[in-house]
Amino acid sequence: MGSGIAQVAAQSGHLVVLSDTNDAALEKSKAKLQKVMARLVEKGKITLETAESIQTRISYTTDLTDFAACGLVIEAIVERIDVKKAVFQTLESIVSGDCILASNTSSLSIASIAASVEKAERVVGIHFFNPAPLMPLVEIIPAVQTSSVVLSQSRDLIDSWKKVTVLAKDTPGFIVNRVARPFYGEALRMYEEGFADFATIDWAMKEIGGFRMGPFELMDFIGNDVNYAVTESVFASFYFDPRYKPSFTQKRHSEAGWYGRKSGRGYYDYAEGAVAPEPTKDKALGEELVWRILVMLINEAADACYLKIASAEDIDLAMTKGVNYPKGLLRWANEKGLGHCVETLDQLHAEYLEDRYRCSPLLRKMVRENKQFFAEA
Ligand SMILES: NC(=O)c1ccc[n+]([C@@H]2O[C@H](COP(=O)([O-])OP(=O)(O)OC[C@H]3O[C@@H](n4cnc5c(N)ncnc54)[C@H](O)[C@@H]3O)[C@@H](O)[C@H]2O)c1
Repeated sequence: MGSGIAQVAAQSGHLVVLSDTNDAALEKSKAKLQKVMARLVEKGKITLETAESIQTRISYTTDLTDFAACGLVIEAIVERIDVKKAVFQTLESIVSGDCILASNTSSLSIASIAASVEKAERVVGIHFFNPAPLMPLVEIIPAVQTSSVVLSQSRDLIDSWKKVTVLAKDTPGFIVNRVARPFYGEALRMYEEGFADFATIDWAMKEIGGFRMGPFELMDFIGNDVNYAVTESVFASFYFDPRYKPSFTQKRHSEAGWYGRKSGRGYYDYAEGAVAPEPTKDKALGEELVWRILVMLINEAADACYLKIASAEDIDLAMTKGVNYPKGLLRWANEKGLGHCVETLDQLHAEYLEDRYRCSPLLRKMVRENKQFFAEA
């Protein structure tokens, strides 16, 4: 992630210092940037001169004191709070008093990272999506300690890098990694209940739902080990709210070493010559599968709005620009009818008697008051 963020900053004209404790990682990053730049020149997207100047703007170091003159540092190191806290403390002793210290963490609390430095008000979350040069979304996360000046300066800066910024509350998963949980969770649940196999659920989500990838394909792409670990950590961070409960199917796949593409086997077999399983292309079943996952995503998005994690506008932007959803979930909810969403959720809740299917109070209230999510809808 660090390399991608450095590329974005250098492309926007900044002098960038890229640091890692590991020399090999720096070499890899340099080689990758060279390759990316060569490809952009080849495609005629940038001139050779621009490519060269972007590369010369980035310097590589293992010495944190090289950050002394920086106005902003974006940390993108290993996802461990103890390691991040130690690095922030060291950084504060090196940089100037008005340097902004940001973290690209996906799951740790910005408040706890901020608490590790003296001037906690200078710390903010700046969360990019992978790959940073291609994904337009950046979540900006103020901690309770972050000053309004640091917040507006960081958001303005990232906007000037032509990114789409959204403001998110410092809560587990921020917007995208919270709202997207049912995309995996409900697909796994329906598989476990025997509604359909992996291929059929993936087919339905792509062909009928309009998503770029199906949930099982996507989990195989991310890695079942990584995706399972995130689900477990989100579940624990939400005090074991059943909405985020992990699945045994994914746990067993991960334990078996069936991580997905990277290990050659996941929900699908990626060995050479392996035959991809055929989906059951039953339209009625497909529509049922898509609607159940979609209504759970809508419920999650509505609850994020209800709990002021972000504005309705930013929640829709986050899901379309951060994970390429074909439509914003709240606009989708309007289209489907909020009454229909509440009805389905209530049916699921009545059927299973599980808190996992509780309807967001916001959806219920909006139906009662005959409201829609966006004025233009
Ligand atoms: N991978 C993603 O899709 C993604 C997306 C958004 C945010 N993030 C976040 O970005 C951060 C990095 O993730 P990643 O996937 O790039 O991880 P990674 O493991 O690929 O890279 C982390 C790098 O940090 C270096 N490092 C470790 N400890 C260090 C230290 N003390 N000082 C300096 N460098 C150190 C490692 O050598 C490694 O090169 C994490 O906080 C992660 O949550 C990742």
